[in-house]
Amino acid sequence: VIRSVVEGLGSYLPERVLKNAELAQKVDTSDDWIVQRTGIRERHIAAEGELTSDLAVHAAERALADAGRTVADIDLIVVATTTPDDTFPSTAVTVQRKLGMTHGAAFDIQAVCSGFIYGLSTADAMIRAGVARRVLLIGAETFSRLLDWNDRSTCVLFGDGAAAVVLAGEAQPGTREDRGVLTTHLRSDGRHREKLYVDGGPSSSERVGKVHMEGREVFRHAVGMITDVVEDAYRVTGYSSDDIDWFVPHQANVRIIDGSAQKLGIAEAKVVKTVDRHGNTSAASIPLALDVAVKDGRIARGDLILLDAMGGGFTWGSALVRW
Ligand code: ACO
Repeated sequence: VIRSVVEGLGSYLPERVLKNAELAQKVDTSDDWIVQRTGIRERHIAAEGELTSDLAVHAAERALADAGRTVADIDLIVVATTTPDDTFPSTAVTVQRKLGMTHGAAFDIQAVCSGFIYGLSTADAMIRAGVARRVLLIGAETFSRLLDWNDRSTCVLFGDGAAAVVLAGEAQPGTREDRGVLTTHLRSDGRHREKLYVDGGPSSSERVGKVHMEGREVFRHAVGMITDVVEDAYRVTGYSSDDIDWFVPHQANVRIIDGSAQKLGIAEAKVVKTVDRHGNTSAASIPLALDVAVKDGRIARGDLILLDAMGGGFTWGSALVRW
């Protein structure tokens, strides 16, 4: 069978680091409150004029170098983002142009914080169907542009960043031990749309809006939705939490991450957490966390990795990947 194997990985964080103490000078909050409720200590913020496509291109170049590939080897670019440069064309097409690539295809995926899992599922399906052979999948966000910097309940939570993977179709024996993407599961339920959304948009308002969130409601649903969709992945593959080497969840909030790991029965030592340094970078958070754990030597070839995410919509999803 053909599986989508991760050939390379790379990430990029904007230079500027915004620490909690600095936020506490602008809004009525404190380092203690933010650390206790969210686990976040600092986040990166894109410079003025630094666009989502710029972050994406840096991450893409690093992923291509890591894979030992060039754009000539890529036939599809997928960018998962909720903060596109422009209304159109897609940020993926802008990235394609900045990378000097004129062949193949490019498009964006919009599933907010679940964007990377949605992108992975889409790219994997296209590879397995023979529509694409090698995909550059990028999660990239300048979420800082959607924040109301006077709203302490949301502005402390998010950060900017990008990370990319090169996914390639590879013939595998078709066993449980195969490398690559083993399964992906996507869910959404629009009844929850008011609990977390950004208003604005070309059709409704002709402008860009700001984040609105019922934090407690998001929190209340998150752990249950995440565990449900992980159980779907276990059911299909026959794996269980005992088989997982590394759990790399979307990084929104350390309490959601810990709550999910606990409910799934995954030991804390197997959970990759970067939310303390990155904040919530939406579609970029999972590949950013993967990049940290691969570069520091935790994730090694052959490891079984569980990914999950939940975000606005609500959208949520899971994936099992053998590295
Ligand atoms: N600093 C200090 N106090 C604050 C802050 C802040 N930054 N933000 C809110 N507060 C206050 C509130 O005003 C409230 O005060 P009040 O009691 O006087 O009204 C008090 O803290 C408690 O507010 P709650 O919202 O009930 O606090 P909670 O414990 O629920 O924590 C939080 C808020 C961190 C947002 C939590 O609900 C949460 O993590 N929710 C999940 C949201 C999330 O992760 N969203 C990311 C996008 S979705 C995703 O990626 C999964």
